[in-house]
Amino acid sequence: MDWKPSKSTGVPIYKQIANYIETRIMTGEFPSGGCLPSERYLATEFGVNRSTIISAYNELHASGLVNRVKGIGTLVSTDLWSSGEQKRVPNWDQYVKGGFFQLNNPINRQIYNVIQSGRNIINLAIGELSADLQPVELMQDVHSAMKIDNYLGYEHMQGNLKLREAISEHLRAYRNINSTPSSILITSGAQQALHLIIQSLLKPGDAVVIEDPSYAYSLPIFHSAGLKTFLLQPGQNGIDPEEIISLYKKHRIKMVFLNPIFQNPTGTTLAYERRQKVIEISTMYGIPIVEDDPYSVTAYNGQPVRTLKSMDQDGAVLYISSLSKIIASGLRIGWILGPQAVINRLTDAKQQIDFGHPNYPQWIAAQLLSSGGFDGHIRKLRQGLKNKRDLIIEALQKEFDGRIEFGVPEGGIHLWCKLKEDWDEHTLFKESIQNGVVFAPGSTLGSNANYVRLTFSRADDHLVQEGIRRFAAAVKRMS
Ligand SMILES: Cc1ncc(COP(=O)(O)O)c(C=O)c1O
Repeated sequence: MDWKPSKSTGVPIYKQIANYIETRIMTGEFPSGGCLPSERYLATEFGVNRSTIISAYNELHASGLVNRVKGIGTLVSTDLWSSGEQKRVPNWDQYVKGGFFQLNNPINRQIYNVIQSGRNIINLAIGELSADLQPVELMQDVHSAMKIDNYLGYEHMQGNLKLREAISEHLRAYRNINSTPSSILITSGAQQALHLIIQSLLKPGDAVVIEDPSYAYSLPIFHSAGLKTFLLQPGQNGIDPEEIISLYKKHRIKMVFLNPIFQNPTGTTLAYERRQKVIEISTMYGIPIVEDDPYSVTAYNGQPVRTLKSMDQDGAVLYISSLSKIIASGLRIGWILGPQAVINRLTDAKQQIDFGHPNYPQWIAAQLLSSGGFDGHIRKLRQGLKNKRDLIIEALQKEFDGRIEFGVPEGGIHLWCKLKEDWDEHTLFKESIQNGVVFAPGSTLGSNANYVRLTFSRADDHLVQEGIRRFAAAVKRMS
């Protein structure tokens, strides 16, 4: 919730909370008959004791606005207006639970709640860049120099042409990929690109392969679309391509989703020969590959690894990427590159969903990508990420003294760690939050217990090691 009670108004906190909930009841945001948030949840949200919430709910009860039902919770009264007439209002709870679009994993929701609560929490959970790694000055320059186009209507449904040209050039210069602007669709981040592919090219019951653990695993969108997911475990050199063949023979796999370079969360890269093999298998069996590649440009040594798309001569790979991990996630600029017929189909879907991408971030992104300062920014970004990686590793070695294992990534933003002792993941997650640090528990990305993903790109340099100290203290407290 965006609202918080204030200590400076002179109105008791419980009363402010009661007033706030009353307003939301009166506006129908908490409809009559519906269940109000639990006392525990509100106490955490507002940063108050549970007894304060109980007092607020008691106040609302005394005014006849809510009923307290044992074993269920606090319900908004169905007789709000005292008209005497029995009303039959929509049962929103049933709708909320009944839609086909599945809810996010509760831990993921909790991570976002904690971060957005404004508490002093070090964020080792979300895949974003720290402020100093974002090209803010460059963006400011681009912004000041920008001329607003005369026409402010809907953009081209496939995306602004100047941006598609800039991306096409960026793909050539930084990723070794040849393309034309016509085969690119601009999306709201890589996330929407994945969603469009799932919704438009597959149907319920289709079998797809994803990596386990992976970012894709964390997304309920595969299951919302009724797809059957089959899992491949990436080792140090990525997944074993031969396993795609056996899964195909058993389950008629329709599509394979891979994040082959600096994978989220393991940081591993699919070995070159395996990348070649994946392309070979794809064209031998006619299985399309979706290559999700937000990270290849971050290679710390400045030599981005060759993408599957750069090796694909037959249009077998749908290539997804975005500016989230190299400029800023809030710009929401992503794209798909693929055969024209596929791009046309996905553009049609995007038109139905949102009438094309907003023009403003597209203008900014086009200017940023073509500006003289972009290359300098990427160099600084690679150096900055490498520095954060070194800081986090140094702190883990110091604080854990060998009681934690991890591979050392050469690009990207994540460290995938195995704790050598057995911990209850939920308790460790809660303890860490209480200690002022948040991370992504391994299970949210599909792993077995005892793995955690520590993302080192978001925290400022001076907080990366403090984050690990807090995390280590939480682990120690549980010993
Ligand atoms: C592998 C991978 N794909 C896609 C995304 C989605 O990113 P965005 O929609 O911000 O481009 C992420 C975000 O962390 C990711 O790690």
